Parts: sequence; C-alpha cells; structure tokens
Amino acid sequence: LLLAKIPEWSKLSTIQEFSAVQPLVVGIGSGSTVVYAAERLGEIKSVFNAFLNDLNLICVATGFQSENLILNNNLRLGTLAYYPELAIAFDGADECDPQLGCIKGGGACLLQEKLVALSAKKFIVVADDRKKVPYLSYGWKIPIEVVNNAPTFVEHQLKKIFGKDLKECVIRESMPKKAGAVVTDNFNCIMDINIGPVHNVEEINNKLKQITGIVETGLFPNVNCVAAYFGNSDGSVEKI
Ligand code: A5P
Repeated sequence: LLLAKIPEWSKLSTIQEFSAVQPLVVGIGSGSTVVYAAERLGEIKSVFNAFLNDLNLICVATGFQSENLILNNNLRLGTLAYYPELAIAFDGADECDPQLGCIKGGGACLLQEKLVALSAKKFIVVADDRKKVPYLSYGWKIPIEVVNNAPTFVEHQLKKIFGKDLKECVIRESMPKKAGAVVTDNFNCIMDINIGPVHNVEEINNKLKQITGIVETGLFPNVNCVAAYFGNSDGSVEKI
C-alpha cells in the first residue's frame, strides 16, 4: 500500500521494475581530483531531473571535505550505516601502480576512504598522470592513521618489524608554522613512513595492521579496483 502511494512506484508491477528504482549508491572520495567526478555526477543528475525522472542517486562520503563536495553538487548524501553496499566508488590516489594498487591518505582521509572503497562493488581511481608509478612508494611515503597517544610505540614496533628498511617515520604536522600533529576526521594522527618499494601490497598492509595503535594504512589491497583514469597535462585521459 505504501509503495502504491509513491507515484513513480505505483506504476511498477514486477520485481525487476521495483529494483530499477532502487537507489544507485556511489562513494565519493576525498582530495582535489575527485572533485571533477562529483561535479560530473551533479551534472548528470540535473540533466536527469530536467528531462526525465529524478535520478535515484545516493552518494556516500569519505570525510568532511567529501560530504561538502556531495552537498555542494546538489547530490543526495547517504551514509554507510544506511547503505552498506555501494555500486561503485570514485576516489583519488597519491600513487597507483600497473596492478591498480594504490597509496592513499595524502589528505588524511584514508580510514573512511577505505571503509567506502571496501563497501563498493567497483572502485575507480581518478588521478593526474603524476600518480601513475611503476611500483608503490616510488616517491610517496605510506600514510598510517595512528591513535593519538601511540606514535612512539608504533615507531618502536615498526623498527622491530622492518629494521633497516624503515628509512623514515614522521608524524604529519598540521601547518608549517603551527606545532602539532594533523588530526584526522576520526581524531587520530597520521604518520608517514618510508620502508622502500612496496611490491606486495597485501603483505605490507598486513604487517602494519598487526601493530596495535595503527588504525589503518594508506595501502588498499582487497579493494576491487577495476580502473584508473589518469589526466595528462595535454588534457587527454589515459585508462589502465
Ligand atoms: C585523501 O586522504 C587522499 O587519499 C586523496 O584521495 C589523495 O591524496 C589524492 O588527492 P588529490 O586528488 O588531491 O591528489
């Protein structure tokens, strides 16, 4: 009866037709590049609204910036609590290798980005061509999200596990002229570590996740990354 009261739905009779109006749930990541994907989604939605029915599109954010991005593009905001399964998620990356392995977290949003990425059936990277690298940690450190009182403990454990391979381990500072660590959307801090080239993303991720105090890492194994789109400086786009 309730369904019949909704004009669009009252016209539908088969399960297939009902499922056609199930929302399309899309993850929107963080950073400067994913802005273009959100803008394009906003355009698509407004075209649908103008000429066809309201596009039943829900967007799930990966943090504070991403939430504003969704709202500013007149997209409908949902949460993972309501929509634990996403059809697709778009996000930027700091590095992306030929196997579509990624380092993320340059904007300190890696924890919520990973929750969204792992909830998505398909994950798409959008980045500029500087992010395309032959292997991970080519020129970028691995960000790790660490509970606030644990950096010293974590560094100590990292030294024990990685030995001489741990070349750098720094707490990310909030602003150049202000002392203090970056505080993530989850009230943790970020450490950036260099343990040399990362060829086995899953193995390194697992080693890091074993350490108490590390909440999450910027390595993204087990995410179904199906494509990466790299924008070149001449305006062309390359897909891998
Ligand atoms: C946010 O924490 C990051 O994972 C970003 O998605 C990543 O740093 C890419 O950002 P840009 O698109 O701004 O390079």
